[in-house]
Amino acid sequence: MVESTPVVEMCNIKKNFAAVQALKGVSLALQHNEVLGLMGDNAAGKSTLMKVLSGAYIPDEGEILMEGNKINLTDPLHARRLGIEMVYQDLALADNLDVTGNVFLGREVVGKQIASVGIMDSRKMEQEAQRLVGRLKIDIPSVRLLVERLSGGQRQAVAIARATAFNSKVIIMDEPTAALSVAAIEKVLDLVRELKAQGASIIIISHRLEDIYAVSDRLIVMRQGRKVRDTPVTGTIDEFRESCVAYMIGARDDFAKVVVE
Ligand SMILES: Nc1ncnc2c1ncn2[C@@H]1O[C@H](COP(=O)(O)OP(=O)(O)OP(=O)(O)O)[C@@H](O)[C@H]1O
Ligand SMILES: [Mg+2]
Repeated sequence: MVESTPVVEMCNIKKNFAAVQALKGVSLALQHNEVLGLMGDNAAGKSTLMKVLSGAYIPDEGEILMEGNKINLTDPLHARRLGIEMVYQDLALADNLDVTGNVFLGREVVGKQIASVGIMDSRKMEQEAQRLVGRLKIDIPSVRLLVERLSGGQRQAVAIARATAFNSKVIIMDEPTAALSVAAIEKVLDLVRELKAQGASIIIISHRLEDIYAVSDRLIVMRQGRKVRDTPVTGTIDEFRESCVAYMIGARDDFAKVVVE
């Protein structure tokens, strides 16, 4: 089998916060058009690893490659320019803005430049927001609705639409189904499938094994700052559950160092 170059690759990433070793040398590869599930107990380092990939944290050690080329991410804007977007665990939406305003937050379309002051082309932004919402089949009555009026599932959808606004290659979602109703969870999972169908490569963090099983091609389990499992998602959900729970609780570890005495 010919292995293609991963869209992104993280090699031996280490990150400490004072005395906390949040990442102890984690490697990960995301293939083109792959959905990668990331699981693990609280404080395993999942969000930290993804914040490194989205440019929010600079790693202490390790390398990131994009399509085989080394990149030194300096900040989230840099990652965004390269096509890497992250939907954060807390969503970070502006409640007092409408859907369009949130989709374009921080990157307004400039219509005219008057004395170097950019005027947002609001009609164009609204059309574009409408197009994105439609493309992802998101169920929101109007892009003019204030985000504070939306349900949890709709808010998640807006945050995801924002992450896809500029045809991102890699979309990272941190716990997109946490705190949602069953119906809303299904919609978010449909969104993940839709993004994949449109060619995106996706990393999804979740505590919900069923969600990872439903949409992921591959699973990585992290525990205490390390990767302990990296496997294709196959078999029945019961087999899948059995194969990953042991890793989450620390009973198994595929990458444990063999200590030679
Ligand atoms: N900005 C920070 N400052 C200090 N410590 C941090 C910071 N961010 C994360 N940590 C620590 O790093 C470790 C990993 O945290 P992280 O948020 O990556 O875990 P997680 O796997 O995403 O957990 P959860 O499932 O609870 O979201 C934890 O011990 C956490 O307290
Ligand atoms: Mg987290």
